[in-house]
Amino acid sequence: MSKKTFYITTPLYYVNASPHIGHSYTEIACDCIARYQRMKGEDVFFLTGTDEHGQKVERSAEAEGKDTLKFIDDVVEKFKELWKGLGISYDDFIRTTEKRHIDTVGKILTILHEKGDIYQDEYKGFYCTPCETFWPKLQIEDNLCPDCGRALEEISETNYFFKLSKYQDWLKGYIEEHPDFIKPDFRRNEVIGYLQEPLNDLCISRPRKRLSWGIDIPFAKDHVVYVWFDALINYISGCGWGSDKKTFEKFWPANFHVIGKDILRPHAVYWPMMLYAAGIEMPKTIFAHGWWLAGGEKMSKSKGNIVDPFALLKKYGQNAYRYFLLREVTFGLDGVFSEDAFITRFNSDLANDFGNLLNRTLTMVEKYFDGAVPDEGAMSEADKALDEKIAALPDKFDQSLSALNFNQALVAVWDLINTANKHIELSAPWILAKNDETDRLKAVMSILLKTLSHCVFFVYPFMPDAALNVAGQLGMKITDKDMSLDKLKGPLLAPGSKVNKGKPLFPRIER
Ligand code: MSP
Repeated sequence: MSKKTFYITTPLYYVNASPHIGHSYTEIACDCIARYQRMKGEDVFFLTGTDEHGQKVERSAEAEGKDTLKFIDDVVEKFKELWKGLGISYDDFIRTTEKRHIDTVGKILTILHEKGDIYQDEYKGFYCTPCETFWPKLQIEDNLCPDCGRALEEISETNYFFKLSKYQDWLKGYIEEHPDFIKPDFRRNEVIGYLQEPLNDLCISRPRKRLSWGIDIPFAKDHVVYVWFDALINYISGCGWGSDKKTFEKFWPANFHVIGKDILRPHAVYWPMMLYAAGIEMPKTIFAHGWWLAGGEKMSKSKGNIVDPFALLKKYGQNAYRYFLLREVTFGLDGVFSEDAFITRFNSDLANDFGNLLNRTLTMVEKYFDGAVPDEGAMSEADKALDEKIAALPDKFDQSLSALNFNQALVAVWDLINTANKHIELSAPWILAKNDETDRLKAVMSILLKTLSHCVFFVYPFMPDAALNVAGQLGMKITDKDMSLDKLKGPLLAPGSKVNKGKPLFPRIER
C-alpha cells in the first residue's frame, strides 16, 4: 500500500535582512509537524525558502554596494545556517529567483490572462515603496502608509490587474463550506470580514522603469510581476506544478500553509482566487500564527528590539530554543519574548522535570541494577496507573498536534513526566532497596524506564537532538530513521540491556 502524503509549507522569507526570531518560529513549528507526520509513516514534503524579488531587496543590496544576487546569496546562506543550527528538516528550499519558479509564474500568468482574468488599466494613487503596496486615498491620512507610517509616493501609471472582484462570492461560499480552510477560527472570521466589502482588483504588475528586480510578464514586456503574486506561486512551483506532474499530483493540495497573522490577506484571499482561476485545487488549511513581541511591541530594526536568533541559539542551544517557542504561547496567539521567561521555562520544565527524571532514574538503575534494565518485576497498582498514562499519551498528543496545538501536546507529555517524578517520591525506591524488596524495586525502575523511552518519541518532534540524546542514555540504539510511532507497539528496552548515563542534558541556568 502506498504511504499517505503530507505537504507543509512555511512562508518564503524576505531576504532584505538577516533572519530573526519570528522567522524561526514558523520554521520550527513546521519542522515539528513534519517530523511528527514522518513518525506516523507519512510521505512528507516540507517546503521552505526565500522571497527574493522586489524593490526592498534591490534597495538593500544597493545600500550595501553589492550586486543584487550576490547580496541575496549571502542572506540565503544566513537563513540556511540558522535552519541547520535549529535542526530544521526541510525537504526542499525554493528561491523565487530559480528557473523552476520563474517558469511557473509565467505559465500561471498566461493562463489567467488568456482567461480574461488579467486586464490592463491606468492606476492613479498612493504607493508605499518599503511595503510595496498601493493605498486608495480613502484609507490614508497625512500621506502616510497605514501599515508602516512612512511617506507615500503619489503615482499614475499603467498596470495589470487580477480580477479579485470576480471571485469574491465564490470565496465567501468556499470559506463557509470549509470550516478548516482558515485557522484559527477567529482568523477565519477576520477573512469573512474582509469579504463583506467589495474588493478592489489586485494590481499584479510594476513598471519595469521603476522596478527591474522582478519576474517578466509574458504578455507585458514593460512590466514585471508584483512580488506577492510571484511569491505565492512558490507553493505549487516548489512541488512540481507544470514541470513534474507526478510529484505535483502526489503532494498537492498542501495540508498546511503555515503563516504569520500579518500575511493572512494574501494567503486567504489572493492565493485561493489565483488557484481557483487557474483551475487548481485549494490547499486544505491555512493556519495563521501570532507574533512574538518584545516588551509588548513589534520587533523592528528601528526600535532596536529584535531578538537575535543566532545569539539565542549559541547561548542556550537548539533544544531549549525550539522548546520555548512552541511551549510558551498558544499557537495562533501573540507572545512576549523575554530572556527571563526563557530561563524560567528552561529551569522548571527542562532541568527540573525532564532532566531530573532522566538523571534520577539512570542513577538508580546504575546503583541498584549495575546499569542493566531490570525485568518488569511485581507491579503495584501505582505502577499500573503510570503504565496506563503511558498508553493514553499517543492519542492525546495526536489530537493536539494534528490541530497545531503545540503547547497542549507538550502539556500532555509533561503530565506524564511529572506523574513519573511523583511516582519516584511515592514509591521511594531507596526504601525498597534497603528492605530488599527486589521485585518491587524492579517494577518501579522498569516503569520509569518505560516512561522515559516513550517520552523519547513524543519529545522528538519538538527537540530531536535531545530526544536522541535521551535515547542514547537509555541504551536505545536509534537514529532519526527509527523514529516511527509503530515502534511504540513493541518493547523499547530489553531487560538486561545496559543504560548509558551521560552528562546532565539540561543543567540549571543560574541567573
Ligand atoms: N515574503 C513574505 C511572505 C511570502 S509567502 C509566499 C513575508 N516575509 S517575511 O520575511 O516578512 O515574514 C515571514 C514570516 O515571518 C511571516 O509569516 C511573518 O508573520 C513571520 N514573522 C515576522 N516577524 C514575526 C514575529 N515577530 N513573530 C512571529 N512571526 C513573525 O512576509
